[in-house]
Amino acid sequence: MAVTAVVNQKGGVGKTTVVLGLAAASAARGRTVLVVDLDPQANATTGMGVWNPASTIADALDTDAVGSIRAVVEPAGWPEGDGPIPHVAPSSARLAQSEHQMATDLIGAQDRLASALDGVAAEYDDVYIDCPPSLGLLTVNALFASDSVLIVAEPSAWSLDGVQQILRNVRRIAERRDGRPGVVGIVVSRLARTRDASYWHGQLSETYPELVLEPPVRLRAAVTEAAAQSVPVGSLTRDGAAAAALEFDALSRSVAPDAAAATPAASPTGGDGAPSSEPDVVELSPAGDH
Ligand SMILES: Nc1ncnc2c1ncn2[C@@H]1O[C@H](COP(=O)(O)OP(=O)(O)O)[C@@H](O)[C@H]1O
Ligand SMILES: [Mg+2]
Repeated sequence: MAVTAVVNQKGGVGKTTVVLGLAAASAARGRTVLVVDLDPQANATTGMGVWNPASTIADALDTDAVGSIRAVVEPAGWPEGDGPIPHVAPSSARLAQSEHQMATDLIGAQDRLASALDGVAAEYDDVYIDCPPSLGLLTVNALFASDSVLIVAEPSAWSLDGVQQILRNVRRIAERRDGRPGVVGIVVSRLARTRDASYWHGQLSETYPELVLEPPVRLRAAVTEAAAQSVPVGSLTRDGAAAAALEFDALSRSVAPDAAAATPAASPTGGDGAPSSEPDVVELSPAGDH
């Protein structure tokens, strides 16, 4: 089991798309998945085909009960695929009010989500938290509840500043949590075939060579169409759908490696930067320079 927070303080960079792509790819690999929709805009919820849920993540966060998320989880409305249907803890606009209420909790403002997931996360192979577009209390709750962080970055001006700010916050929390969460990587998302996009992709890779994951997620009409239909992109037959699904499969294998591949004995070693088959979570040391 691993809990991964998918983070960027900017909206529209592709966080929800990456969460949905990872959920579908993990499930296709036979893994059980829980998506926690922590954005009041509820795009992951509707993207998973869940409309007007009976109860939501706001209800789970409002109560103080350990494991409270279990009562709000439901299966995605996705068509039957190869693997188990992912589950979702749905969101709604009311989550914005819960965030304000949480802020008045003097004792547990930061770890309400960790407590809600306690004992439930372990029932899944992969838990992905889709964060809202801010570094506010909801995202802080996601960081306190997660083992690792996946940063989604658009290849554009200012994205380097945004990544630096996220890494600073992650480091501050990791200092209080024995090194957790680590950073599993930066996925470059919505990569267009323009000179500008490849320039900023290059800048991100040069600045964070140990963190930028390959391949990036390219900008494709198939991805937009899948979102509009609330289905995984791999279930479409149109141009680009299979290629997009392959990108998410590769990303899923970096973020959540198969158990066998995680055995250190099976991994090539050496200081030459050869790819290791170990789950590659970078712990941010307090002395780190980014
Ligand atoms: N790889 C992609 N190709 C095409 N459209 C994309 C891609 N990634 C995201 N989008 C579209 O861009 C918009 C913003 O993406 P989204 O995942 O909702 O971002 P965020 O969750 O960061 O706000 C959505 O309309 C989404 O469908
Ligand atoms: Mg989103």
